[in-house]
Amino acid sequence: MRVSVALIVAVVACGGATLADAQHQHRHDSSAPRARDARQFVKFPAALVEHTLANMRDHLLALQEIQTQLGMGQMDVAAKIAETRLGMSSLGLHGAAHVSRYMPQGMQDAGTAMHRAASRFAITAQDAGVTGDMKPVFAGLADITAQCVGCHASYRLK
Ligand code: HEC
Repeated sequence: MRVSVALIVAVVACGGATLADAQHQHRHDSSAPRARDARQFVKFPAALVEHTLANMRDHLLALQEIQTQLGMGQMDVAAKIAETRLGMSSLGLHGAAHVSRYMPQGMQDAGTAMHRAASRFAITAQDAGVTGDMKPVFAGLADITAQCVGCHASYRLK
């Protein structure tokens, strides 16, 4: 018994060391892309930066709420969140016209693509409520997320 406990301790300790090595290695790997951050800096007025970041945090919250509703089979609720918080109907909500003045064209296009993807998703989710076919719903969700990822890869505000 004592032997097997010692063995487990040794294995765990060894595993721990390996993990620490892996994390150490990872830090080296991930510092490389950060050093050559190729994202374009976009200058917003200070107040608008904070407003935009708060809006971004709501985008993430909306994605989470959508996924929660999908998990509960509430397609209509998921569709409504997508349309009103991320979709074309959300444009007035966060003063898009005011903000877009400060955006380079590519960033404006990325924003528009996200709003369109979210509105398409809302329709897809509503359809799935009738057909029960979830595949297009997940594809549509990935399509929204791809727009978040794409813009984040290209632009920064700070
Ligand atoms: C049109 C461009 C664009 C789109 C589309 C976009 N974002 Fe952002 N987001 C940004 C920029 C720019 C920042 C600031 C990044 C920086 O300065 O490092 C940001 C920051 C964030 C942050 C950090 C907020 C903070 O408090 O620092 C979150 C969270 C976020 N975005 C979520 C999302 C989600 C979720 C989506 C998609 C549903 C999304 N964003 C779509 C441009 C975009």
